[in-house]
Amino acid sequence: MISDATLTRFAREVAKYPAEQKQSAVMACLAIVQQEQGFISETAEIDIAAYLGMPQIAVHEVTTFYNMYNQHPVGKYKLNVCTNLPCLLRDGGKALEYLEKKLGISTGDTTPDGLFTLQQCECLGACADAPVMLVNDRSMCSFMSDDKLDQLVDSLRAAEGRA
Ligand code: FES
Repeated sequence: MISDATLTRFAREVAKYPAEQKQSAVMACLAIVQQEQGFISETAEIDIAAYLGMPQIAVHEVTTFYNMYNQHPVGKYKLNVCTNLPCLLRDGGKALEYLEKKLGISTGDTTPDGLFTLQQCECLGACADAPVMLVNDRSMCSFMSDDKLDQLVDSLRAAEGRA
């Protein structure tokens, strides 16, 4: 169920486009829902589709095309390690394996304390900085050696009082 406050935020995004192109606000509406609820449920997709006057499948296509949209609840820190070829050739796979061991989870899973979700992702456009990863879809981390992965995870745990 979408709240009135959320609908107000939707309206602000829709107002940026001509009335006959309000579907252009779909990514912004998905981002708002994710910010408020943590992930995009099927119900949210139905609500957004109805609000924007577009088929639900079209909303679902956007949700599933971009991996910044979470289709399930995720941990407080979503760690995406790039495993496209340029990163793979420069230890991207090793970085992912190192995080699996350090966090004690497999790729795609969330730690039992709900702090970390580990995923792989497509090219982040910073291949020269490989191995590259993204934290919570916003913070790019470059040259992720084992030491830098330790620093990242340990500092996030410390920030949560779980050092
Ligand atoms: S392949 Fe990893 S950032 Fe491009």
